[in-house]
Amino acid sequence: MEDSTDQVQSSPVTWSRDGDVGVILINNPPVNAGSREVRAGILTALDELMQETSLCALVVMGAGNTFIAGSDIREFGQPLEVPELPTVISAIEAYPKPVVAALHGAALGGGFELALGCDARIALTGCVVGLPEVTLGMIPGAGGTQRLPRLIPLAQAIELVTSGRRVKAEEACEMGIIASVVETDLRANAVAFARALHGQKRRLRDLPAVASSPSDIRAAEQAALQWTKGRPYAVCAIDMVKAAAHLPIDEALAKERAAFQTFRMSDEAAALRYLFFAERDAGKIDGIGAVKPRSVHEVAVIGAGTMGIGIAVTFADAGYAVTLVDQDEAAVSRANAQVQAIYDRLVAKKRITEAEVQARLTRISTTTQLADVASCDVVIEAIFEDMNIKQELFRKLDAIVKSGAILASNTSYLDLNEIAAATSRPQDIVGLHFFNPAHVMKLLEVVRGVRTSTEALTTALRVGRKLGKSAIVAGVGEGFIGNRGYAAYRRQCEFMLEEGAYPEDIDRALEAFGMAMGPFAVGDMSGLDIAWRMRQRLSTHRDPSVRYVEIPDRLCEMGRFGQKTKAGWYRYEPGERKGRPDPLVHKLIETASAEKGITRALLSADYVVGRALIAMINEAALILSEGVAQRASDIDLAWVHGYGFPGYEGGPLLWATRQPKSRIMALQQDMAAQSGRGYPLGHIEAVLKSAASGV
Ligand code: NAI
Repeated sequence: MEDSTDQVQSSPVTWSRDGDVGVILINNPPVNAGSREVRAGILTALDELMQETSLCALVVMGAGNTFIAGSDIREFGQPLEVPELPTVISAIEAYPKPVVAALHGAALGGGFELALGCDARIALTGCVVGLPEVTLGMIPGAGGTQRLPRLIPLAQAIELVTSGRRVKAEEACEMGIIASVVETDLRANAVAFARALHGQKRRLRDLPAVASSPSDIRAAEQAALQWTKGRPYAVCAIDMVKAAAHLPIDEALAKERAAFQTFRMSDEAAALRYLFFAERDAGKIDGIGAVKPRSVHEVAVIGAGTMGIGIAVTFADAGYAVTLVDQDEAAVSRANAQVQAIYDRLVAKKRITEAEVQARLTRISTTTQLADVASCDVVIEAIFEDMNIKQELFRKLDAIVKSGAILASNTSYLDLNEIAAATSRPQDIVGLHFFNPAHVMKLLEVVRGVRTSTEALTTALRVGRKLGKSAIVAGVGEGFIGNRGYAAYRRQCEFMLEEGAYPEDIDRALEAFGMAMGPFAVGDMSGLDIAWRMRQRLSTHRDPSVRYVEIPDRLCEMGRFGQKTKAGWYRYEPGERKGRPDPLVHKLIETASAEKGITRALLSADYVVGRALIAMINEAALILSEGVAQRASDIDLAWVHGYGFPGYEGGPLLWATRQPKSRIMALQQDMAAQSGRGYPLGHIEAVLKSAASGV
């Protein structure tokens, strides 16, 4: 038999002949994920091709848009079905003639490991390769940590394995991962390439690891430990890559596989998988069928302050033309310098090239003339947080901007419906709530006003995805999803100040739990004045019998707004970004406790964490019951991508599902008792059920 496609079969893998080269084709739409059927199909094809003794080489490639773009992520949480991937890779290595992986689209995870099991790799331009396992709480389990460092220096392999970075074909070729990049006709080129190997096997397993200097390895290791927060799977991945230099390959492969099997079943991996699926669900809007989004090319950002600059950079990075407007000439010049500074830092860190910077800079134009935004498809307002000022701007925009454009507000707390009411087109008004720094933070809340059209909402969500953001839909409500939950959390932390803790105690406990920064360090970084203004705005509505902590107001009255005034919850020495505990703040806190007649007590780190997290969980229950968020997993995404909640815990709601129910209920009761009269309590049990269903 010459061609496996002659067979009547349903295998996603077929083979055919191209002269004296056999071509194995993987066809498992949509992304050729490496399922059991695919693995078995490759084995069967190799078996059949063993009989084809006249062949001088094989090519393995994917049908459709991609090579094997990865594994079926759900499989990692279940018993793996045989044949497992290492068996398939061993069969490729054992095939007596060279096997060439012809890559296009993406070769990620197991797909890339399979390609590394081949004798050579060629790729179509546009293809990306990478090992994302560490970002999913595991390590590569089919030789990635052993074969990659036999192609590229150990230090580079550490970087790729621990970051999960997707490397473009051209860069992979420069590094030596891919032998050649072709512009067109992948199959014909791969066949010619395979033929030119003259039957010579070139297995990576037979090569020694490519050395790096000890200092390069140390530097790569330190950088990796920093961005992975030294999680056990990242440490293991680093150790495995280093082992490639001294362990016999079969021993190292066995160790790698065993570690992979342990990590994939861990709680951390399950949490990261939960977030992966949460991300996918977040783009879905309940109750909306398919709606065609409007096309968006030109974008304007009004307000060239902290947020406006970051938002403009985000759009330029994603390829949009951006007009950045400010009423103040000086703000415009400052913005130009700051945009340049952002890019200079990226170039210094070798994240982008000078040429890329120039391309992005040409996409950003600055002006003081509002009229310049008339033809934009999306206009985002990021001016002062004041309803009157915002309404006035939206009135002007309504008169200037073409019809059909989306008018968005980056407001943190204000009522979007009131802003929309200032225009004649409330259907086109959305909230696009970015987080600071906007070009770095992944979270984007797409706020849906009562009159926002589904078309405008769908368009905004699509823009969010194009920006590479984790976009969740939020209803209108004080602080939407993220800031509202955060305010509740911060409030409990402030209660704990009165009860006995100092800012550094609480920050330390929460950072040890895994929060990127404690709430008081965050407050100082983002500025205490924003929340102060919000509290002043709400002060007339405040019920005097409800517990209220005055300490932050007192700090602000003293002009302590945080890092920008060199003093806030902490004091900042010149040139230092990390604050130092301040005896003056301690005194302020002790006085506040005394004024309320509270006897200060020592609060354990465990208590602080439980109390802070139950505040997040309780508020999440309220947010869900009011319909401000669509689903529990959206709230977890907000915490992880917007507020530095550790991804390996999956978010506060997933965390709660993993605690004994009795503990969660006791935490809520204690919080209620400490918080005093009028503290709103959510129905936590219902929420936990909903979060657990996403695992
Ligand atoms: P900012 O004070 O740094 O910048 C505001 C800029 O808007 C200033 O340059 C000002 O000259 C300009 N501006 C004011 N009125 C204008 C008008 N009518 N036309 C043109 N330009 C005008 O403020 P920031 O921090 O960037 O905040 C902007 C908005 O983003 C606010 O609504 C804020 O609540 C929101 N936000 C702020 C975050 C933060 O961490 N700073 C985070 C997320 C949202």
